[in-house]
Amino acid sequence: MLEKTRQTVSFIQDKFDFAPEVGIILGTGLGGLVNEIKIQHTLDYEEIPNFPVSTVEGHHGRLIFGELGGKNIVAMQGRFHYYEGYTMMEVTFPVRVMKYLGIKNLLVSNASGGVNPDFEIGDLMIINDHINLIPNPLIGVHDNNFGARFPDMSEPYDKILIARAQEIAKKNHIKTQVGCYVATTGPTFETPKEYEYFRVIGGDTVGMSTTPEVIVARQMGIPCFAISIITDLGVPGKIVEITHEEVQKVAAKAETKMTLIMKELISQL
Ligand code: HPA
Repeated sequence: MLEKTRQTVSFIQDKFDFAPEVGIILGTGLGGLVNEIKIQHTLDYEEIPNFPVSTVEGHHGRLIFGELGGKNIVAMQGRFHYYEGYTMMEVTFPVRVMKYLGIKNLLVSNASGGVNPDFEIGDLMIINDHINLIPNPLIGVHDNNFGARFPDMSEPYDKILIARAQEIAKKNHIKTQVGCYVATTGPTFETPKEYEYFRVIGGDTVGMSTTPEVIVARQMGIPCFAISIITDLGVPGKIVEITHEEVQKVAAKAETKMTLIMKELISQL
């Protein structure tokens, strides 16, 4: 995998001279952040050797290189999910590439269903821990070039970044929750009992992404920050039918708030 990573990194570096400091995965709710980036280069995933190609509706596939909040960033517009049929190695490959391109921090967004009864639809939750129920992306042949065989996970999400994001939110009168994200394979949304189960085991929200990328980033020592939009509730008595379209609609409404927090956080890095 090191060989593949190096090949992809060389391909990108041969195309243009650009050194990103920050990696961003533009998940649900961060689509608008693209408009804030002073774009210098883009590469469609199809053009990049060894990159998988995104298939899910509402996720476009390209890497964006540019400036945001005074920093050189590389952003993934469109991510890969396990439920699309990719291997966990494919899902997380872009994060390894971003590391070898030089990123020092990884910022991620997603959409999720709230299982904490105090949460409301449209809330933002800063993720401070996760429970990964998707197969672990580090299963397989180990390569020390990417980090430890048994990586520490005592601080999956960087405490300083969390504190800064909370300050930014407070200053801008944006309500945020903080909590634990449970990652499942999907693609089904949860049954009522599954939502209950995720609450019982310690989750505040449940979604289908993010933990693979964060696990791989943490193995490589990259501090991570992730924020989630609560697009629906898996709380007894409040469970309603949910569709992908509804998730996108609620996420779009919260986009401005999430964009502001991310942009400000990047400028403080
Ligand atoms: N469950 C899983 N993934 C999700 C949900 C949910 O309720 N909402 C948005 N993504």
